[in-house]
Amino acid sequence: MNNERRDFNAPLAKPSAKARADASGPRGMPLIRAKDFSVFYGSKAAVDRVTFDIQAGKVTAIIGPSGCGKSTYLRAVNRMNDLIPGCCTSGILSLEGQHLYASDVDVVALRRMVGMVFQKPNPFPKSIFDNVAFGPRIHGTVNQGELGDIVERSLRRAGLFEEVKDRLGDNALGLSGGQQQRLCIARAIAVNPKVLLMDEPASALDPRSTTRIEDLIGELRGAYTIVIVTHNMQQAARVSDMTAFFYEGRLVEFGDTEEIFTRPRKKETEDYITGRFG
Ligand SMILES: Nc1ncnc2c1ncn2[C@@H]1O[C@H](COP(=O)(O)OP(=O)(O)O)[C@@H](O)[C@H]1O
Ligand SMILES: [Mg+2]
Repeated sequence: MNNERRDFNAPLAKPSAKARADASGPRGMPLIRAKDFSVFYGSKAAVDRVTFDIQAGKVTAIIGPSGCGKSTYLRAVNRMNDLIPGCCTSGILSLEGQHLYASDVDVVALRRMVGMVFQKPNPFPKSIFDNVAFGPRIHGTVNQGELGDIVERSLRRAGLFEEVKDRLGDNALGLSGGQQQRLCIARAIAVNPKVLLMDEPASALDPRSTTRIEDLIGELRGAYTIVIVTHNMQQAARVSDMTAFFYEGRLVEFGDTEEIFTRPRKKETEDYITGRFG
């Protein structure tokens, strides 16, 4: 508990280089590793023996046509598939060297390290303040001053504080869609996760809100390890350092985003990014 409190007392300003290193480990080191990792729904492999590393502090985009296993992979990283009957895994998926499907994994602790943002903003029907304070409260922070600091810091990092500072007690459902999504990002980062998973976080938003989310991802890069699923090729090219192309559950190609979009090695990748299918 004491450690958690110390985390929450980090400065309100943008994270320092040291805070970034603490948050994500040395930048560029593998943080999430998949080795021959599969996820099955019953007997069908939705993710089929994928092997790739996600590097700390970077933004990794996962692209590919609908139904190719992007969301399934993403959900595997914080074990959200656990609740689906008949869902099981094989191979290795690890975070900081810990195999996530080992029997001794503390799933609550894992979900604190790995925050998630969904396509459709899903704020709780509570006040703006209570949405952001929700996670820290669950993890034992009760002091009102401390909570206030966390809420302000998280909203600032999510680029929302100035818009809502005078109405923190208002119901979050009264915010616009774009604001709700930034609130969900603030809620996710309020517990100081290392990893932020984003499943098509802007695809339900208007173009202006989409730009704000993309800008925000740029600002959060380095402080968090971000994995974003997107259908939007331009978005993947704009926001990510690394890109993984999934097709029918397989990882077809993984590499520097610039390389993937300018010099793909595989014909399937080229066909997809040039819009020939998907
Ligand atoms: N809860 C589920 N039960 C059974 N099959 C599922 C479930 N969720 C997804 N699938 C199947 O797994 C495959 C991959 O789905 P998904 O990971 O959602 O793909 P994507 O996010 O790339 O669109 C699809 O064939 C889909 O129908
Ligand atoms: Mg999906």
